[in-house]
Amino acid sequence: MFLKRLKGKKDGGPEQDNYGLAHGDLGDIGASPKLSDYEVVDTLGTGTFGRVRLCRHRANGRHYALKIMKKTEVVRLKQVEHVHSERRIQATLLHPFIVRMAGSFQDTNNLYMVLELVIGGELFSHLRRAGRFSNETSRMYAAQVVLALQHLHSLDIIYRDLKPENLLIDDKGYLKITDFGFAKEVTDRTWTLCGTPEYLAPEIIQSKGHGKGVDWWALGVLLYEMLAGYPPFFDENPFGIYQKILLGRVECPRHFDANAKDIVRRLLQSDRSKRLGNLKGGADDVKRSKWFKGLDFDALIKREIPPPIVPEIRHPVDTRNFEVYPDSDDESGGAGSPVIVGGEGLFDEFSGVVETKT
Ligand SMILES: Nc1ncnc2c1ncn2[C@@H]1O[C@H](COP(=O)(O)OP(=O)(O)O)[C@@H](O)[C@H]1O
Ligand SMILES: [Mg+2]
Repeated sequence: MFLKRLKGKKDGGPEQDNYGLAHGDLGDIGASPKLSDYEVVDTLGTGTFGRVRLCRHRANGRHYALKIMKKTEVVRLKQVEHVHSERRIQATLLHPFIVRMAGSFQDTNNLYMVLELVIGGELFSHLRRAGRFSNETSRMYAAQVVLALQHLHSLDIIYRDLKPENLLIDDKGYLKITDFGFAKEVTDRTWTLCGTPEYLAPEIIQSKGHGKGVDWWALGVLLYEMLAGYPPFFDENPFGIYQKILLGRVECPRHFDANAKDIVRRLLQSDRSKRLGNLKGGADDVKRSKWFKGLDFDALIKREIPPPIVPEIRHPVDTRNFEVYPDSDDESGGAGSPVIVGGEGLFDEFSGVVETKT
């Protein structure tokens, strides 16, 4: 298998990414990580297969976001392959706008991914609270997503789940993409129908086979949603949404800036051979669009441009920017909880070492 990085934790010092940027130490979670190493502090989010919990590593004292996935749910929803590739891909990524992973482990009931804690909440919550974002705020967030997608695509990874729920804001106000549950390493096309209805590109709905172009389409949806406060294609049920996507008619509210309308239309181009980002110039074409004029991407990736929103955080584990979730310990297993019959070996790969490319 592919890619770079992660053979267990290297000792000491900052790690450097492909752009020469230093990343702080994520902390040592030990050679044989397990749930009892952690004290659960709070719930950050609910996922498809379980919760994401704010945890404190008892030995190193650091806080992490622990993504807990119930094996029975993963199997029931036929996502075994996806969780393996989620872990494998997340383990390899090192980028200022992508959530890092410190390690992973499993027990009888669950799979666990130990993630860098991003404390400022989901972009989704900030957007809903604000109603919509200004042109400048949207531009700043979109630019960070473009840089992250450019990085992923340079590694032949398509992300496939771009939406405000998967974009987190850190303590300073910069974005981090989380949730690589649908990410896939592909050089050509792939066929699995996955993603979130409002954000699906027409070629996914039509099962034509899809590639990196779907992320640029989703960027168009995201841009629209940030600027308008609602997505471009919506309906009460997914079928209605799909019909509108396939119809391909995009109406931008009048308050959209002219250059914003232009980039939205060029990203929400049904014909992927004409879609911005999916052309020869790739992500660079997107960066060069008029809407981004004057935005210094090099300074942005170094986090030298002040973020548009700095979240209110009163202490390092202040979860006020996340939704409140009722208490639950439903992933703890216990008597009467379902077990997978005949599933031996299904999750072995989850504990393996992620191979390096070089
Ligand atoms: N690293 C993180 N730091 C803080 N919160 C997180 C982190 N990762 C995920 N979350 C929260 O948990 C939610 C669900 O996690 P996600 O990985 O998106 O799960 P799923 O694949 O089931 O959608 C996110 O929308 C977010 O609110
Ligand atoms: Mg998610």
